[in-house]
Amino acid sequence: NAAVALVPAAGRGERLGFGIPKALVPVRGAPLLLHAVRGLLSAGRVRHVVVAAPAEALEQVSSLLSGLPVDVVAGGSDRTESVGLALRHALAVVPGARIALVHDAARAFTPPEVVARVVDAVAAGARAVVPVLPMADTVKLVDADGVVLGTPDRAALRVVQTPQGFDVETLVTAHRSGLSATDDAGLVEALGVPVNTVDGHPNAMKVTTPHDLAVAEKVLVEGL
Ligand code: C5P
Repeated sequence: NAAVALVPAAGRGERLGFGIPKALVPVRGAPLLLHAVRGLLSAGRVRHVVVAAPAEALEQVSSLLSGLPVDVVAGGSDRTESVGLALRHALAVVPGARIALVHDAARAFTPPEVVARVVDAVAAGARAVVPVLPMADTVKLVDADGVVLGTPDRAALRVVQTPQGFDVETLVTAHRSGLSATDDAGLVEALGVPVNTVDGHPNAMKVTTPHDLAVAEKVLVEGL
């Protein structure tokens, strides 16, 4: 059950305001991307990682990850395209791969147990698996003017994290569909394939804002 992991990290990460790609922002002396890749590999389930990096940062990212079972490819014009390019490369390097994970570099502190849960669920027969948490907040649906249209039942809502796991054929089909989505499970859902869930973890939070970065520094030092 060889698993490969794809990490789309080719965005600009401007919301963090560092003026460098978000994946390269350091936390406790190491870039987010390095934390993320180490976390994927330390679960003991992933044979090879392919990172999609900004074209102008290819050398920098490669040297950052040297010595690890990782290849770096240039990303595409949006997240979906970057994942597709990384997927194509991963299948060329590990032709026997049966399971593909897609992981946000920004979820740099995802515990290895979450990675293991996702891989194991796909190995057990699920075609698509996402780690989720219950919603703490009530969520409103609003119109373009911000007027509330309705309140979905919170008990039926989940926050979605990564890595998201797929059997390789399902992910390849999803990426050939030409659709676009904010996550890969969204593409798979559009094909009508069931997407299963496993428990996520608070430490798998996405580091997007300076506030998140401050939380991440704290989480890594002290645990949650
Ligand atoms: O900018 P956004 O939040 O949509 O990016 C989501 C993820 O997709 C980020 O990890 C970013 O690095 C990645 N991405 C990418 N290739 C792009 C744009 C975004 O890999 N062309």
